Amino acid sequence: MRRKFIAGNWKMNKTIEEAKELAEEIKTELNEIDKVDIALFPPFTALYPVYEVIKDSNIALGAQNMWYESKGAYTGETSPAFIVDIGCKYIIIGHSERRKYFNETDELINRKIKTALEWKLTPIVCLGETLEQREKGETQKVIEHQFNHGFMDLDSVQASRTTIAYEPIWAIGTGQTATPEIAEQIHKFIRGLVQKEYGSQTADNFQILYGGSVKPENIDGLIQELDIDGALVGGASLNPKSFIDIVKKTSGG
Ligand code: PGA
Repeated sequence: MRRKFIAGNWKMNKTIEEAKELAEEIKTELNEIDKVDIALFPPFTALYPVYEVIKDSNIALGAQNMWYESKGAYTGETSPAFIVDIGCKYIIIGHSERRKYFNETDELINRKIKTALEWKLTPIVCLGETLEQREKGETQKVIEHQFNHGFMDLDSVQASRTTIAYEPIWAIGTGQTATPEIAEQIHKFIRGLVQKEYGSQTADNFQILYGGSVKPENIDGLIQELDIDGALVGGASLNPKSFIDIVKKTSGG
């Protein structure tokens, strides 16, 4: 039985004080939830302050990005060693905003996944199509390409330590969520790709999250689908009440 997982991606939001306050509220309200994995992804500057708030709780910490080398002359970049050192368990890799604004390719994403796994971080690898690709009927082709190249040379042990977030780009930050049926269709397709490459056992245990305008109003429908194991929440994770509601609904109450 796969566990549900709700992750809050704060993107480039929240000062240290704001981040601590948000983490405190979330921790207080969710401290009895044990059926759902919960993780927060603050910006780099707030990672340690948030770690201090949640370190002995049921809430894990993650970072939004990292570099694929562990040290060296990479001005401005963040090593996976630092991310582990600061208390992170998870790392988001290949978010569509990084693919779009920072020209991240599937090859770069593949290197980052491998390094993250070497450092025992759990990568949340984002896959998703643009509106134009969807309208041209290319969604499955795009996802398959991102999966095949992103997971290149990973064995089944490495794959089983990885999570995927399906995030249709047309649904991110637009208020336009994929319907549960549309999302489920692609989640099932992704599970099929995992199965083809790594076998049924890995596929059956593999967590696949949905991301794109998830809110308290639409989480119920999404989470009921067989292959949707949780959500990567952006905008709604900045509001304590919304994020708390999403986790509680996922937990069944
Ligand atoms: P959104 O972002 O919930 O604001 O659409 C999701 C994401 O980008 O991870």
